[in-house]
Amino acid sequence: MLVLGIESTCDETGIALVKDGQTILSNLVASQTDLHEAYGGVVPELASRRHIHMLPLLLQNALKETQLTLREIDLIAVAKGPGLVGALLIGLHFAKGLALSRSLPLIGVNHVEAHLFAAMMQAEVALPALGVVLSGGHTALVLINELGSYQLLGQTQDDAIGEAFDKVAIMLGLAYPGGPKVEKLAKGGNPTRFAFKTGRTKNRPFDFSFSGLKTAVLYQVKGQNGTSKGQDLIREEDKKDVAASFQHVAFSDIVNKSLSAAKQYQVKSIVIGGGVSQNGYLRALLNAASPLPLFWPHPELCLDNAAMIGALGFHDYQRRGADDLHLEAMPRIPFIGLPCSHTS
Ligand code: KG4
Ligand code: ZN
Repeated sequence: MLVLGIESTCDETGIALVKDGQTILSNLVASQTDLHEAYGGVVPELASRRHIHMLPLLLQNALKETQLTLREIDLIAVAKGPGLVGALLIGLHFAKGLALSRSLPLIGVNHVEAHLFAAMMQAEVALPALGVVLSGGHTALVLINELGSYQLLGQTQDDAIGEAFDKVAIMLGLAYPGGPKVEKLAKGGNPTRFAFKTGRTKNRPFDFSFSGLKTAVLYQVKGQNGTSKGQDLIREEDKKDVAASFQHVAFSDIVNKSLSAAKQYQVKSIVIGGGVSQNGYLRALLNAASPLPLFWPHPELCLDNAAMIGALGFHDYQRRGADDLHLEAMPRIPFIGLPCSHTS
């Protein structure tokens, strides 16, 4: 079964052609970094407009590079949420237009679930597994009983981990998106120089809190209550130690909580997903500490992409059949207890 995957939840436009939920024939991503960089974050209206422009172009390119035609596509899978409502609507309308004109089945896919599935699509993962979602919008520990059956064990009470990286990057004078730049700066730094701490999450052992950590970094760089009047208090050469210490503290918390959840729920493996899973320091920490097999997404499947949407769409379709054309954008769709997407 050939699935066309469509991704437009935030600031990456993605089109992919995936066979039988596993084999990626084409996976095209158009990043919008150039568009949003000057604003230090994603501007929703600009993102939507770029999606309108890019989706047809990427589809044309994907068909060209695979020498396939629309006639060979069997199913259209589109990310229905969570994400920016305008951006989601563009992807959904594009998907619905194609489905209607080609009389093809359509299925809406949960973007966060797809991030977790990215590492599972080409591997034999022993279940139950612990899912660790680390993206720009989400940070969560999830018990994966089987595909489509999840239990939320914990999540962030404030910032998502990727969001914390992006904000710390701005404090350190690095451009958006900051995650990879903080990682790069941290490479030559001392991870134990600054004793930052993550927040306490009372009675919620698998929750996270990164906002206090972020403020501690701000105070270290700019002084408490803006005492430095916008000037940096630390020297340029010390910034790498701030980046390394922030990264070390944030990831140690994630690794410790992941391993303790894995132990408590007696899982057989750990699956990691989302943009932050690209970070080499995190991979090294968890690889060294985990007694269980770890499943990391292939580098081209860590960040937002349509291959993970197409692959999960295939499995969702096998399990629950197609959605109809009333499928709506779900900007705040919960990961667990997914609402039924059949609206009629
Ligand atoms: O999963 P993703 O592509 O988008 C969402 O669904 O949110 O994740 C994007 C996030 C951004 O916050 C970005 O800064 C972060 O992932 N990120 C990283 C790295 N690469 C991307 N964070 C830390 N280290 C990286 N190497
Ligand atoms: Zn994402």
